[in-house]
Amino acid sequence: MERLDFRSDTITRPDEAMRHVIAQAEVGDDVFGDDPTVLHLQERVAGMLGTEDALFVPSGTMGNQIALALHTQPGDQIILEADSHIYHYEAGAAAALSGLWPTLVSAPGGALHWAQVEEVLNPDDVHKPRPALVCLENTHNRAGGAVVPLELIDEVAEGCHRRGLKLHLDGARLWNAAVATGIPLERWCRGVDTVSVCFSKGLGAPVGSCLAGTREDMQEARRLRKRLGGGMRQVGLLAAACLYALDHNLDRLAEDHENARLIAEGLDHPRLRVAVMPDTNILLIDLDEDIAADGFLHLLAERGVLGVAFGEHRIRLTTHKDVSREDCRRAVEILNGLEI
Ligand SMILES: Cc1ncc(COP(=O)(O)O)c(C=O)c1O
Repeated sequence: MERLDFRSDTITRPDEAMRHVIAQAEVGDDVFGDDPTVLHLQERVAGMLGTEDALFVPSGTMGNQIALALHTQPGDQIILEADSHIYHYEAGAAAALSGLWPTLVSAPGGALHWAQVEEVLNPDDVHKPRPALVCLENTHNRAGGAVVPLELIDEVAEGCHRRGLKLHLDGARLWNAAVATGIPLERWCRGVDTVSVCFSKGLGAPVGSCLAGTREDMQEARRLRKRLGGGMRQVGLLAAACLYALDHNLDRLAEDHENARLIAEGLDHPRLRVAVMPDTNILLIDLDEDIAADGFLHLLAERGVLGVAFGEHRIRLTTHKDVSREDCRRAVEILNGLEI
């Protein structure tokens, strides 16, 4: 049976052309700082994001965690959106690795306002963890790939800097926000201190992320990366795939967005509802209260469609370069035909 795999945009496999580029990559030892392909990637990413420098890291999680360590001291308060990846999906690393004290703020769609942040900042009081860092996420994964409006990012950035706080942007899918809105990448990053971006999601590279920020911060980030065991050697092999992904797979994210919308608009089942119309490539579907997500996914998998649970009665379908328009049409037929 054909398998339409919508579990994540991380499941894509490198095609022949990408594998060729990997095989041909010029490499050095990146811990010595002389892998030319990594240097090229870092320079290119910094140029795209409008930052002084960038650092290649193995994963988005490591990029985020280096940023947290970079901007804080153990015992500090960090402000996270309650549904953020940093809070939900990084195995408690903020506490385990950097000794941080997170305060959560709920913001539908990840659209955090400065007033909400200001309200929870601890006062300057020896009894309290010292506020140090705010993190935003764009696009926002658990909010269904929602694009966080630029005005809000600017508003939070302005507030942070006025209060002497740092701002980190988890931009694992910032590419999607830029493609969906036409607002250039560098504009999204203008007010932030650091931003992390991933090549292994919609861009289709097998591995790799970058953390970007000032030259000074990236120097310190290099030390923190080493501390975490993220110093890699002939890693130009992977950087080559990321460069290839930037050349070939960035603009095509628009197709993924159209495909997610196609499924959302085609869904027509009395017991299933689109939770939010997708801005980008992540579609959340709510099930009637008596349908458990796990059992539903099992049934869906038997019909050849794979997704993931995103709550007791919610599933996530993610579009990416390895599912075609036709695959999405087929998925709609299967969903609409389910006897549940
Ligand atoms: C918003 C967001 N941030 C960070 C990450 C972490 O990336 P990685 O899986 O490369 O650690 C993910 C992964 O899906 C993500 O969705």
